[in-house]
Amino acid sequence: MNYLKIFSPATVANVSCGFDSLGFAVDAVGDEMTFTKTVQKGVKITNITGANLTYNVNENAASAVVQKILKEANANFGIELTIHKGFSPGSGLGSSAASAAGAAFGVNQFLENQFSELELTKFAMFGEEIACGSAIADNVAAAIYGGFILVRSYEPLEIIKLPVPDALRVVAIHPQIEVKTKDAREVLPEKIALKDAVTQWANVGGLISGLYTNNYHLISNSLVDIIVEPYRKKLIPFFDTVKSSAISAGALGAGISGSGPTIFALCKGDEIANEVYKSIKESYKNTGIKFEMFISKINPNGIKIV
Ligand code: HSE
Repeated sequence: MNYLKIFSPATVANVSCGFDSLGFAVDAVGDEMTFTKTVQKGVKITNITGANLTYNVNENAASAVVQKILKEANANFGIELTIHKGFSPGSGLGSSAASAAGAAFGVNQFLENQFSELELTKFAMFGEEIACGSAIADNVAAAIYGGFILVRSYEPLEIIKLPVPDALRVVAIHPQIEVKTKDAREVLPEKIALKDAVTQWANVGGLISGLYTNNYHLISNSLVDIIVEPYRKKLIPFFDTVKSSAISAGALGAGISGSGPTIFALCKGDEIANEVYKSIKESYKNTGIKFEMFISKINPNGIKIV
């Protein structure tokens, strides 16, 4: 094989209560990447479209990951990379994660899939570190494993793939402002009150239990974030307006996608998702801030060859 084209999905991390530990992949939005095998060793980015990203191979999350894997595998070939961004960096939809995870998945195809999904997640986390300064796993694992994932442990890394109820849909609005993950992490407190921790971990348990038992009521009651959202929502204009319009239109819950500014709402079924979409759109149209929206199923498979 000398050439490969892949789709790497956008992802929603945290999912309200699960800061840095829950995430899911979406179907509707993602990046396309191509990989061409070269005789010359090393990595080169030949084209980037859809976003203004660096071609410096040590600073670009995707090429940095390719480089690391080729080195680790002691590969006797190189890779030329193109990246077409289907959504913006700084959106909260795992933009750097899609590129980093896609890079790990793609190179692995040229190495007879010698690395497991868990190992690919570790490589992709290196890309996250390059992009935002923290080796976070929730977005990259969701892109690599697909569906809904739990980062059960960081050291050692352990990823659990969770079931996804069939009718689960996500509606997302991306206000066209940029929030850098690094900045959105800096606004968070280092310490939290024990009673808040109790509320939060009980909700994580409730959400996971709801996913396993198809209990939408339990999912809805558990989509609560009392730790991170109060700090980060200040970075997102009209967050409360969007959240309440989503919930009043029937969403199970709504929250900040990753580090924002995208706001996601989970819904049961297409009909409610359409209503929620309309309601959010209506609530944002006079704010003076441009926005993009989508409705998506949860993507069960993650990155795929196209
Ligand atoms: N869990 C990470 C955060 C995701 O919320 O900072 C970053 O995209």
